[in-house]
Amino acid sequence: MSDSAPVLTIDGPGGAGKGTISRLVAARLGWHLLDSGALYRLTALAAVKHEVPLDDEPALAHIAATLDVVFVAENDAATVLLEGRDATAAIRTEQVGDAASRVAALPAVRQALLQRQRDFRQAPGLVADGRDMGTVVFTDAPLKIFLTASAEERARRRHLQLREAGVDASLSSLLKEIQARDARDMQRSVAPLKPAIDAITLDTTRLTIPEVVDRLTELLTERGLASAT
Ligand code: DC
Repeated sequence: MSDSAPVLTIDGPGGAGKGTISRLVAARLGWHLLDSGALYRLTALAAVKHEVPLDDEPALAHIAATLDVVFVAENDAATVLLEGRDATAAIRTEQVGDAASRVAALPAVRQALLQRQRDFRQAPGLVADGRDMGTVVFTDAPLKIFLTASAEERARRRHLQLREAGVDASLSSLLKEIQARDARDMQRSVAPLKPAIDAITLDTTRLTIPEVVDRLTELLTERGLASAT
């Protein structure tokens, strides 16, 4: 039964390493992966494409409910198709991230995406990456992680990522954007960003990616959700 498949929820602010960590843990376990932020980003991108204003809640909820999206996982790379077209790079821009954060503050949009997210819960298990995975979407998950890092460290990581992609951005403006997005994600009235009461908080400011993956694997093993390797 899909409902009984185990879920590891990984919530936290942008830039804490959730995406990379979730992908690596899912690959190590052979579990499915839900990148819930991508669904908000895709909703925002579809809205821009169809010229729907980012404050038209009913129209945005309709877009979210009828989103024509396909996730294609091939070895290490994940491709996402929106209305049949590759949207992998388009959803990662700062502009779409900003629009996604606005769209994600609308209750009707969140409601419209709820079942679509729960449908990812399938055997042998799911790693769910987002902001409200442990608090709203998978409240019965047997292991909930809240991944954080200082805003400065997250800005530094994003700066590095952008530089590697050939994008020149100023560190101070990235820090400001991260702080603004954190504030919006934490202060919204529906599903605000916060740790679930039963979540384990992991600060990754001084941890490497392999250290975080190992720690999560240990926790999963301790709880009988994965076998020790
Ligand atoms: O993780 P991300 O940067 O791809 O997320 C994009 C936006 O979507 C971010 O501003 C917060 C929002 N989001 C959300 O509200 N709930 C989720 N479960 C995932 C993302």
